[in-house]
Amino acid sequence: MKHTPWWRDAVCYQIYVRSFADADGDGLGDLLGIHSRLSYLSQLGIDAVWLTPFYPSPQHDNGYDVADFRDVDGRFGSLHDFDSMLASAHDLGIRVIVDIVPNHTSTEHAWFKEALVADPGSPARNRYLFSGGTGRAGSRPPNNWRSVFGGPAWSRVKDGHWYLHLFDSSQPDLNWRNKEVRDEYESVLRFWLDRGVDGFRIDVAHSLYKEEGLPRAARQDTLATPYYDQPEVHSVYRRWNQVLKEYDGDRMAIAEAWVADPEAMARYIRPDELQQSFNFHWLQTPWSAAAFRRVITETLKAVEPVGASATWVLSNHDVVREVTRYGGGDLGVARSRAATLTMLALPGSSYIYQGAELGLPEVDVPARARQDPVWFRGGGVGRDGCRVPIPWSGSESPYGFGPDGAQPWLPQPSSWRELSVEAQDHRSGSTLDFFRRALAMRRAISGALGQRLRLPKSPPGVLVIERDRGFTCVLNCGRRPVRLVRLANSMGIPGQTFGDLLISSGDDAAVSDGLLPPDTAAWFKTGATVVRSHSHRLPGSTSRNRDGRG
Ligand code: GLC
Repeated sequence: MKHTPWWRDAVCYQIYVRSFADADGDGLGDLLGIHSRLSYLSQLGIDAVWLTPFYPSPQHDNGYDVADFRDVDGRFGSLHDFDSMLASAHDLGIRVIVDIVPNHTSTEHAWFKEALVADPGSPARNRYLFSGGTGRAGSRPPNNWRSVFGGPAWSRVKDGHWYLHLFDSSQPDLNWRNKEVRDEYESVLRFWLDRGVDGFRIDVAHSLYKEEGLPRAARQDTLATPYYDQPEVHSVYRRWNQVLKEYDGDRMAIAEAWVADPEAMARYIRPDELQQSFNFHWLQTPWSAAAFRRVITETLKAVEPVGASATWVLSNHDVVREVTRYGGGDLGVARSRAATLTMLALPGSSYIYQGAELGLPEVDVPARARQDPVWFRGGGVGRDGCRVPIPWSGSESPYGFGPDGAQPWLPQPSSWRELSVEAQDHRSGSTLDFFRRALAMRRAISGALGQRLRLPKSPPGVLVIERDRGFTCVLNCGRRPVRLVRLANSMGIPGQTFGDLLISSGDDAAVSDGLLPPDTAAWFKTGATVVRSHSHRLPGSTSRNRDGRG
């Protein structure tokens, strides 16, 4: 039988470490907190978790400013905590992906400290992108590049030279044309692979190389700039592909690459490069059946020729939560659930951001509490609103996120008591209940589904997805309920029915009666689809090392 790597159709849950579970009561989530909640994740029914950076860091960008890639920040725990959490996750059949941040380090990294006291032109400076300035006495930055977080992308050091930082000034960009940098990252990959991690999420994977000569950017409001998606970056991922292959267990890496279109995305996942790339086009899609159809078609068209699996992403720690994007309130929740069920119906893997399973909305964090460097650099309101620590239980903050009385690092709204895990746990029809049922159903049928997909012509506002072996997903983005018999009839479906209802994102009773309400998706099966239970253990768990010895 053909071997299918686990990541090709995994459901991966993103843990924003600071905001998931705080075991020691310092207001920040930590590794022990994650460890204590693994059974929750197992019951939720996910296959893997991706952990945002927990490495030593001054936390100017919540850990994406890494001072040491081979350790754990004391605020999040220790390497020992990491190892034991990883072993327990593996015992539960949950794979673990960690974040790797190759575009930049923190200014607190030993390399940058060395660079600061070294001479211009020295090897220590050559690990970063230092340059003389322009204008009188070099008092103006080397070029016009802007930081993604707002303001100029250059800061000046004491001797008058400038260093590049595409993000905060505490995040100097590395020089990937320097072999020492490339070697260092391969060694960091091995450090975590040797510990047994299953994969990496590559931070700003498309930015490592900047166009030679650092030319002026004609425009900065597009993705076509001299600091994104340069062809040389692919040589890095061809090397990383080799490193991953030295290990057993289908280790993988997924790129965070905000590129222009699905075709540019697919270049990162050619057979000798990375395994996956986040498909952000899904989360950018407006509430429209035609728009969803277009993204599905374009994504599959782009990934199929390179033999990769598609990914689908509705939210993460950098974007406004989908409940709010889709209109907020009951409408936002209904649409988020429908979009989730639709994405789970697609071939490939889905990435779910913590709190989506609770239907959390974006929070309007008061200005005095905001912490995102985007806010401080004048780049806008920032991303704190999607990063508020998640509510587990109880009727007041910290809602079980940390011990009673501990102050979470961002304030939680009082309305969240109704959204906590405890409040939704046994409430049939709650968003948590819906996610658990949807993930269980996906797991039960996924083995029986073919990869081939069709998007038959359907009336405006309705999207119909058919997969081989008797599976159909119908999404209603329109304003009126859809009469399913009429829809099937108009599409020439034999027997004029899509089959038995497996699950809907809304009111199952209405759908069973033949009406698909607006803002709802539903899955159906015709006779052939096998629904089976699925065992949830990894083949050989814990630290699988390079030689395949456990
Ligand atoms: C990525 C991360 C984001 C971070 C930035 C700089 O886009 O997802 O949170 O601020 O990279 O590392």
